[in-house]
Amino acid sequence: MTDKYDKPLNIDRYAVLGNPIAHSKSPQIHAAFAKQTGQPINYEAILAPIDGFAASIKNLIAQGYKGANVTVPFKFEAFNLCDELTERATSAGAVNTLSFNQNKIIGDNTDGVGLARDLTLNYSYALKGARILLLGAGGAAQGVMLPLINAEPASITIANRNLEKAQFMIQKIAAQHAVCNLAVSNYENLQSKFDVIINATSIGLSDTILPISNTIFAKNCLAYDMMYGRETPFMAKARSTGAQVADGLGMLVEQAAEAFYVWRGVRPETAPVIKMMSTY
Ligand code: ATR
Repeated sequence: MTDKYDKPLNIDRYAVLGNPIAHSKSPQIHAAFAKQTGQPINYEAILAPIDGFAASIKNLIAQGYKGANVTVPFKFEAFNLCDELTERATSAGAVNTLSFNQNKIIGDNTDGVGLARDLTLNYSYALKGARILLLGAGGAAQGVMLPLINAEPASITIANRNLEKAQFMIQKIAAQHAVCNLAVSNYENLQSKFDVIINATSIGLSDTILPISNTIFAKNCLAYDMMYGRETPFMAKARSTGAQVADGLGMLVEQAAEAFYVWRGVRPETAPVIKMMSTY
């Protein structure tokens, strides 16, 4: 990359670490952001050994990298590695964005704000006053709780196979934040209608169908699956009820844009990048 006088610019290096990592779309997304904003960065995907995440991060710092994204299965390990955490990382209990700043590792989590932005900006869905149902109580669900609460919905119900996990999740968030109406349920007992239903379970990867009733999708319901790349059984079910259906590609691009903003102080436009990525 050069400046307007064709002098080479200092290029700051970033990476995404995961295992596996070959499928990651993050390098393409960040390359598009860099091109669009003129920011001199290089971003690559790095396979970290399952037992070698901390060593991989130390190695990046020694090489002068400025930051990194973290994906499965290292988000919790990244959380424990940080010297400082943002509020949204603390609330999520996981870290997906690291900044390396004068020998300090600062951990952030941009997943939740990525989802909230996708829902409100790209799908123009007002979360304020909405009845939200979150399916799942694992790391992905916990990661999005704070931004959902901050959007001031009427209620958030968490449904999970393991009810104790869902209960633990709402107790934890209620202890830290002023919250809206919170409830837990198993899938079979869900009866009332919801305006937004978000699938944060990991079952999109399989063909398992969650035992939820077709009657819980309110009129004009938005059914959102955090997975992307293929129609999941949840999306198919939601579509059959007439719900508007969305996959997690927008969330992926929005969480990347937020990380880019954390690192560079510049907010890239996401719409053209979502469009570009949806053709891959
Ligand atoms: P992640 O970090 O992706 O959220 P996780 O923490 O392992 O991964 O959580 C996976 C989520 O998917 C959990 O809510 C899990 O439900 P349980 O807590 O009851 O285990 C849910 N899940 C995974 N497989 C499932 C299945 N076959 N049926 C129902 N829920 C499932």
